[in-house]
Amino acid sequence: KTPDGWLPRDPRLIRLTGVHPFNVEAPLTDLFNEGFLTSPELFYVRNHGHVPQVQDEDIPDWELTIEGLVERPFTISLRGLLEQFEQRTYPITLVCAGNRRKEQNVVRKTKGFSWGAAGVSTALFTGVMMVDLLGRAKPRRGARYVCMEGADELPNGCYGTNVKLRSAMNRDLGMMLAHMMNGEMLRPDHGKPLRAVIPGQIGGRSVKWLKRLVVTPDHSDNWYHIWDNRVLPTMVSPEQSANEPSWWQDERYAIYDLSTNSAIAHPAHDQTLSLDVLQKSHCFKGYAYGGGGRRVTRVEVSIDKGKSWRLAEIEYPEDRYREASPRQMCGGTLDMTDYEASFCWCFWSMNISVSDLSSASDVLVRAMDDSMNVQPRDMYWSVLGMMNNPWYRVAIHQEG
Ligand code: MTE
Repeated sequence: KTPDGWLPRDPRLIRLTGVHPFNVEAPLTDLFNEGFLTSPELFYVRNHGHVPQVQDEDIPDWELTIEGLVERPFTISLRGLLEQFEQRTYPITLVCAGNRRKEQNVVRKTKGFSWGAAGVSTALFTGVMMVDLLGRAKPRRGARYVCMEGADELPNGCYGTNVKLRSAMNRDLGMMLAHMMNGEMLRPDHGKPLRAVIPGQIGGRSVKWLKRLVVTPDHSDNWYHIWDNRVLPTMVSPEQSANEPSWWQDERYAIYDLSTNSAIAHPAHDQTLSLDVLQKSHCFKGYAYGGGGRRVTRVEVSIDKGKSWRLAEIEYPEDRYREASPRQMCGGTLDMTDYEASFCWCFWSMNISVSDLSSASDVLVRAMDDSMNVQPRDMYWSVLGMMNNPWYRVAIHQEG
């Protein structure tokens, strides 16, 4: 066991905040080479504090309470949840809102630690649908948010935040309470025994070690909802922001849907490429994702600093699950038959000839989604360094 009480973690993981709390991402190429589903060993972890320790024999008795502005508040054990509600399985990509923050910290230090581009991972999550639970509780008139609370004890209380009730009630947005990941019980770092999984939104909304849902007319007043997961206006500085709570109280700056984003996994940044004529071409590849269920519809690559762009091939492994629907998978029903949205990353690739590369010193990529949201050229710096999504760049060097 490690000093914080849990099993040894994969040595390839890059620790982003020292020993504690445990915040890690895999080297981008290792993550990418795993393919569509990320193994639990390399799945990124974002913990604000200690991981609640739950013994296996206590899992069936783990209790979840649903209360607030509902006609029928209730408390249910995990055993009851799984017996009384239908279980579903979906492939879902989780992304930390801080993914790619390192680039912001280089420009100007933010209040957040430096994620590279591997704060993103995908798993098959199995659990019950949030809409089914809310259906039993029956939200009352005036209810607008579902606040969620985890069991972790942090300096400012438990971790909590909210989703919008109208999104939670929309079955097509796929919000679930999951107890399994890739067919096995959630690992402690990922919320064992129960977590929310909020597809298409920042990972910060997917509350782990989930204990309580409260339906409310107002947004969550949890410390972590107010002081985290926001894109404040760019003029707010780290020093100023601490003294101006009004910036943080403004719910307009809270982030829900992910922004459109992409990254280059091959070649790695600063890699030296062989320009041997026998090589003919190099294959550039990486990932892309959209927010709110929007599908990435194009990925473009530039080797002349954005003057011209070429269209990359895109592969959507998520569609293989759609085509295989409906079927039983990992103890739940996988059914994406009538489900238009896209909640997973996709992969792009492009061959570029050695002769074209002879004058290139870097490679840029950008993605666009089906609402024509395109990654911007310029960074929007903000004090928490979140949602960073300008064109992604790797420098390349020529051999010889
Ligand atoms: N839930 C609790 N209870 N405590 C946390 O610290 N971190 C959030 C979210 N849910 C967090 C939490 C953040 S910011 C992210 S990005 C995701 O969990 C990360 O999920 P993962 O560690 O399983 O990848």
